[in-house]
Amino acid sequence: MNILVTGGNGQLGSELKELAARHEGMTFFFYDLPLLDITDRAMVHRVCGEHAVDAIVNCAAYTAVDRAEDEPEAAYRVNRDGPEVLAEAAKERHALLVHVSTDYVFNGESCTPYHEGDAVSPLGVYGQSKWEGEEKIRAIAPSYMIVRTSWLYSSHGRNFVKTMLRLGSERDELKVVFDQAGTPTLAADLAEALVSMLSRYDREHTYAETYHYSNEGVCSWYDFARAVMRARQLPCRVLPVGSGEYPTKAKRPHYSVLDKGKIKEHWNLEIPHWQDSLERMLKRCC
Ligand SMILES: NC(=O)c1ccc[n+]([C@@H]2O[C@H](COP(=O)([O-])OP(=O)(O)OC[C@H]3O[C@@H](n4cnc5c(N)ncnc54)[C@H](OP(=O)(O)O)[C@@H]3O)[C@@H](O)[C@H]2O)c1
Repeated sequence: MNILVTGGNGQLGSELKELAARHEGMTFFFYDLPLLDITDRAMVHRVCGEHAVDAIVNCAAYTAVDRAEDEPEAAYRVNRDGPEVLAEAAKERHALLVHVSTDYVFNGESCTPYHEGDAVSPLGVYGQSKWEGEEKIRAIAPSYMIVRTSWLYSSHGRNFVKTMLRLGSERDELKVVFDQAGTPTLAADLAEALVSMLSRYDREHTYAETYHYSNEGVCSWYDFARAVMRARQLPCRVLPVGSGEYPTKAKRPHYSVLDKGKIKEHWNLEIPHWQDSLERMLKRCC
């Protein structure tokens, strides 16, 4: 099976790259800008043809949540129009499209974990553009799996954990919001789940599935920051603040915990707890 991974240099794409070599029966082709722009139809069709692609895993995205408020055209181009182009290519090749989306499609007014079929109501441009990308895929791709995830971090790229490690060694004190609850996701865990699903997917079957995947457990950004400091024994004090005291350009959901029952049951996945994954990542890197 030939698998094209877009956004191959991002956090998730890089983790997939590390796993790819270990899997027989699947040949991965990793692309990112400038060699493959997912919004460029001709480029996408050419690359899919060149590698006789059977499946596409879309890790490419515009992920700057706050910047998206100032650059909505750029966010919609990558997060809505890009998936549309990939869905068309998947249709032409009768290929499976695996697409990664976000917990920010929800408005956070729930106080119980979100299921895949729950009503969406994004609070900002990033979430709205990702939702519209999902809808393009549902309308066009003949066989797809949309996997929503949350609070992604990795040893690659820029993310909350690496920011905390840096600030924790520079400062004595740090304020972090306590009134946004969710679940961190180690990109390596999500990559492993995706590869496991790809290795077992039935090519005769048509998929039209939306799944939720994050690590297990729930925490606030404040809890997450404290866990990073504790694991590294950084002397920086973390102080809880409300979102009102830490205004950001984009509004974020107060609660975006994802229910993972469906993906665990369909694919028989065991998902690590976020604290265990964080410790594992910090032992290995940074
Ligand atoms: N990060 C999170 O906290 C989070 C949370 C929930 C869901 N997600 C979703 O999870 C997925 C993976 O996220 P991630 O954190 O791995 O993202 P990331 O690290 O920002 O990687 C995205 C990659 O896509 C590339 N890219 C941007 N525009 C492109 C285009 N037009 N064509 C091809 N590639 C393009 C980026 O290149 P440049 O760096 O050069 O722009 C980057 O290498 C995304 O779908 C994201 O929406 C992320």
